[in-house]
Amino acid sequence: MKRLVCAILISMTTVAAAHGSVTKKPFGTLKDGTPIELYTIKNGGLEVSITTFGARVVAILAPDRHGKAANVALGYDNLDSYLVDKTYFGSIVGRYGNRIAFGKFSIDGHQYQVPTNDGANSLHGGPEGFSQLPWTAHEIPNGVEMTLVSKDGDMGFPGTLTVHVKYTVAHDALRIDYAATTDKTTVINVTNHTYFNLAGEGAPTILDEHLTLNADAYTPIDAGLIPTGQIAPVEGTPFDFRKSTVIGDRINQPNEQLKRGLGYDHNWVLNGVNGQMKVAAKVYDAATGRVLTVSTTEPGVQFYSGNFLAAAIPGHEGHAYPKRSGFCLETQHFPDSPNHPNFPSTLLKPGQTMHSTTIFAFSTEK
Ligand code: GLA
Repeated sequence: MKRLVCAILISMTTVAAAHGSVTKKPFGTLKDGTPIELYTIKNGGLEVSITTFGARVVAILAPDRHGKAANVALGYDNLDSYLVDKTYFGSIVGRYGNRIAFGKFSIDGHQYQVPTNDGANSLHGGPEGFSQLPWTAHEIPNGVEMTLVSKDGDMGFPGTLTVHVKYTVAHDALRIDYAATTDKTTVINVTNHTYFNLAGEGAPTILDEHLTLNADAYTPIDAGLIPTGQIAPVEGTPFDFRKSTVIGDRINQPNEQLKRGLGYDHNWVLNGVNGQMKVAAKVYDAATGRVLTVSTTEPGVQFYSGNFLAAAIPGHEGHAYPKRSGFCLETQHFPDSPNHPNFPSTLLKPGQTMHSTTIFAFSTEK
């Protein structure tokens, strides 16, 4: 009996320890009066703040090898900066994350033209994509669920699309579960656009961090950063991160693909099965010992080395974020998939539910 009580008590403590706290506070108001909130989820050693504006990750506090926490996500401490931000810091991008060539695609013989906002191409769902909109939110165990209903024709895309994004924090990881349904056949490619610096946001560069990518191939791009359609082996190129390699080691090599991307801004084709969870990437910062391991059910990851960052707006604590002071690992379907039948399909039909999960896990090494 005593043993049973003991066992029950132990399991109760475990359950209590596994439950984080979720708090909510106001984060400003949009011009039309929509209130914007900031949720903070704490669990174990991690603390993650997320705003309903663009469903954006505002901060991720993670311990270093000595247990000292720092915010490893670039961002702002106020809504006004997010309203003028052009970097997509922390946001959920959609309906179509990354680019669609000339904003054109066709579904069932019907041609669609979505707005172009990146030279001749469409980027991250257009000028008023999901990153620029207020989401509705409610608390869930260890997290927050964000919902957006995008009307038929929103930013040129067909179908009323209902998107749910669950952010939860447990086991030293931030987990993102996506689900979406539509009432007309459409295309969808949602991802999270957090910029990380494992030395802490405000540290001047990410070029000294060590990256591993679980990919034997990548999708080369043309001058407009649109995939050519080719699936090219990484072997023998500066795109081979199958073994942990310092990000800055090869970034300035005279390589045509690096020139086109102004550095790394490419989609890697992940080893493993589309729809099944696998490790996509691992990043290690030798100075602090922090390690970020990214796992996903998506078939690709856009590794972007922050080439367009330009310290345009002061970030958290007044920090400047210059070129390459943050990197993104955007788990995704491949850019411009609607125009490449050889890429995994991004079509979503009525009656289907799109499900996708990505986990950002934090740990430390010596
Ligand atoms: C993505 C793109 C980059 C850039 C950033 C946002 O990662 O691939 O080219 O547009 O978003 O600045």
